[in-house]
Amino acid sequence: MNYRHAFHAGNFADCMKHALLAWLLRAMMRKSTPLFVLDTHAGRGQYDLTDTPAQRTGEAERGIQRLLRDPRPALFHYLDLVRSLGLYPGSPNLIRALLRPGDRLACCELHPEDAEALRQLFHRDEQVSVHRRDAWEALGALLPPKEKRGLVLIDGPFEEPDEFTRLANGLIAGHRRFGNGVFVAWYPIKHRAPVRAFHTAMKDSGIRDIVAVELLLREPLDPGRLNGCGLLVINPPYQFEAGADALLEALLPILGDREAGEALVVSRISDE
Ligand SMILES: C[S@@+](CC[C@H](N)C(=O)[O-])C[C@H]1O[C@@H](n2cnc3c(N)ncnc32)[C@H](O)[C@@H]1O
Repeated sequence: MNYRHAFHAGNFADCMKHALLAWLLRAMMRKSTPLFVLDTHAGRGQYDLTDTPAQRTGEAERGIQRLLRDPRPALFHYLDLVRSLGLYPGSPNLIRALLRPGDRLACCELHPEDAEALRQLFHRDEQVSVHRRDAWEALGALLPPKEKRGLVLIDGPFEEPDEFTRLANGLIAGHRRFGNGVFVAWYPIKHRAPVRAFHTAMKDSGIRDIVAVELLLREPLDPGRLNGCGLLVINPPYQFEAGADALLEALLPILGDREAGEALVVSRISDE
């Protein structure tokens, strides 16, 4: 396990993922019944962007710092959350900030240091459980939740060549156990072929109601670079496509460098 999220926290991919995640949770909270959230690849929960890893890559400078300097109305909710939490919130802290009394969050993280940091962060928090366990195994063990309503975030490190296949299989297995859950999966866009194969696998799975949202910083031609990223959402809440479009429209002009091929895409992979 070489991947450490501290080097990438607050970069354009985090901003896109976290802004959409906050929108999704708020939309699901329009109903008053309790929610369960499973964060399968949680990281350490929060990141000091003045620390060496973030400073060394400068990714947050081209990500969240740009958004904070030039805040756009569609992003106010996400940016207010970031400001109010102090350190840059990873997905667990962002989700925790949105939970209502009666909602629950379960976080899984395999890296020993990050799992320990997460455990300390949520020490004595009765709404949050931290598990040092494998994400893919957790999808079987922790689903379906007793609340019967929930969101599952799958945000793997994409270190291995077969991660798109693993992600598709994980989504299909998770959906089989929790058919009405909202599943949110992050994926990198380096070049198009693996993304196309992933979308085809999800379409062919027979799962209905899938939307993909993508932000491209440039034409995805160089497979050695992170040219963009996407979120695949199963069972998106009402009006997700319009909400996602507004968020991407606000993100792209600030996060992009006006390179050829910049784009935002909201596409339906399978119908409702
Ligand atoms: C992209 S980071 C997660 C970032 C986090 N979701 C956020 O938005 O702040 C991926 C994390 O998954 C962890 N990880 C890698 N393989 C895992 C596995 N099989 N099960 C659980 N965690 C894993 C890594 O240690 C890393 O912290």
